[in-house]
This record gives sequence, structure tokens and C-alpha cells, in this order.
Amino acid sequence: MDSRYFNIRVGSLLPDRPLPFDLFVVIQNRYVHYLRAGNTLSPEKIAKLNQSDRFFIPQSQRQNFKDFIYGQLALEEVPAEIKAQILRESSLALVEEIYENPDVGKALADSKELIHGFVKFMEQEPEGMGHLISLSSHDFYTYNHSLDVGVYALGLGRLAGYSEVELEELGRGALFHDVGKKWVDVDIICKKGALDDVEWAQMKNHPEYGLQILNEYEDVSEAIKACCYEHHESFLGNGYPQELPGEEIHPMARIIAITDTYDALTTQRSYNKPMTPKDAIDFMTTKLKDRYDPDLLKILREVMFAL
Ligand SMILES: [Fe+2]
Ligand SMILES: [Fe+2]
Repeated sequence: MDSRYFNIRVGSLLPDRPLPFDLFVVIQNRYVHYLRAGNTLSPEKIAKLNQSDRFFIPQSQRQNFKDFIYGQLALEEVPAEIKAQILRESSLALVEEIYENPDVGKALADSKELIHGFVKFMEQEPEGMGHLISLSSHDFYTYNHSLDVGVYALGLGRLAGYSEVELEELGRGALFHDVGKKWVDVDIICKKGALDDVEWAQMKNHPEYGLQILNEYEDVSEAIKACCYEHHESFLGNGYPQELPGEEIHPMARIIAITDTYDALTTQRSYNKPMTPKDAIDFMTTKLKDRYDPDLLKILREVMFAL
């Protein structure tokens, strides 16, 4: 892909609003001008596209795009439901970057503003969280999964009494919790069916790989590293990689552990049927109960049933 452009998803844009940036599409590997800055996309044009189709914007106009997105989120006449969609769609491109781009430094930097946007949105729109949760994809791609875990974690963290600053750390920790999967063979990540012992052993290295990746960058807090390194620890002390006993697991990593499992259970993978939210929570509060922080299990139930 040409580094002079960045991609956005069609679902980030509303019809009938002048766009302060140029839009390009790629046709046969060439960037073709689709819309000039200042013009609007008609609802008919948008209807012909898939939400996940891509437009490309010149890097030089990145700030215009960001200002535009945050501007739309501030508009009173835009319903919370649509704002949630804009926020989610405009975030997915960044989350993809975490996994597709060899250098995570840029995504680490960009994630600050992104999660700040989510935290503000939750604060300003009482219904915002519910809308964001209802947009969870239920498809398993590592980046959808990371964003969904981010949304659930923010919901849980807020009810657990986290401050805004703490929520921002937690949200970023969620986005990067599986960053170590970059170093796991893609055939293992995408395998349909259960993993064999050798494959499983490699998969279980991802918290360790993730820590190594994050250690390459300055400015990554201990909390964010813990979300990555400790999210497969269990309250029983038999998780991996460190077999930490419950009280030694970082509080934010406990939130990632619980929301990670919830997302895995309610998501369609090739080899299992997704559980309904109710079945997933029943399962987690009975069969899996001892693996999680008991206070957080209670809060998870509240978050998911407040909707
Ligand atoms: Fe994981
Ligand atoms: Fe995960």
C-alpha cells in the first residue's frame, strides 16, 4: 500500500455532509480521485458500498479527517447510536494497523487519542456504552476482538470506579493485549479447528512475545504491559505464563482476562457456535467462576444486563 495515503472505512462517514478531505479509491492498484474536499457523499452513493469498503485519504489531510470525526461526535443532532458507529468504524483502521504494520510505535501513539475519544463519548452519552456494545462484531479477527475487548473493558472499568486517566490506560491495554500474536504463525492464528500440542505451545507464547514488543518502546506504562503479559493468568494461580496467584495479577489485567473470555465465548469462530450474552455470563459465573476476580464477575453481569 502507498504510504502517502491512509485508509478509512466507509462506515466512518455520514451522507450529506461536506467532507474537508479528498477521497480516493484504489482501482487496479491505482489511486483514483473519488471525491474532492468540500463535496458531500450522497446516501445513494453510500448505499452502494459496504460499510467495510475502504476509501483512501492523503496523509497530508490526516488532521482534517480527525477533526471531522471528533466534530461529528460533538454534534447534538447526530444520535448516539450513529456516533457509536462512527467511533467504532473510524477506530478499526487504527486497530488493524497494530496487527498489520511491523512497527507498533505509531499505533501506540495514535491509540491515546482514540481511547480518549471513547472515554469522552461514554461520559457525554449515557446510552453510548450500550450502543458501542451492541455494535460488537461477533466475528473473530484479532483486531475486531481487540476493539471489542476495549469496549467491554471500558464499561467494566467505569463501573469498577476507574478515573478517566485510568480508563485511558485500561483501554489502551485492551487494544494491545494480544499484540504478541503478531509473532505467532498466521496459520496457527487462522486455523479452523483445535490446535495440536505444538501449535498450542506457540500460541501460549503470545503474552511473552507481546511484552517483548512493548518493551521496545519507551513510554509504555507498566499497566499496559501487564494487560498484555498477565491477561491469561487465572485467579486460581494456574494460568500462563507466570502462574500468578489471584492477588498478584494486575487489576487491569484481571479486567482484560474477564472481557477477553467473554468476547471469545460470544464470538463466531470457525469451530464453535457463539454463546448468547446470557449463556456466556452463566457459564463464566458457574463453570469458570474461580478463574476470575469475583467482584469483576459481578460487575460484568451488571454491564451486560444493563443494556
Ligand atoms: Fe490472549
Ligand atoms: Fe485476546
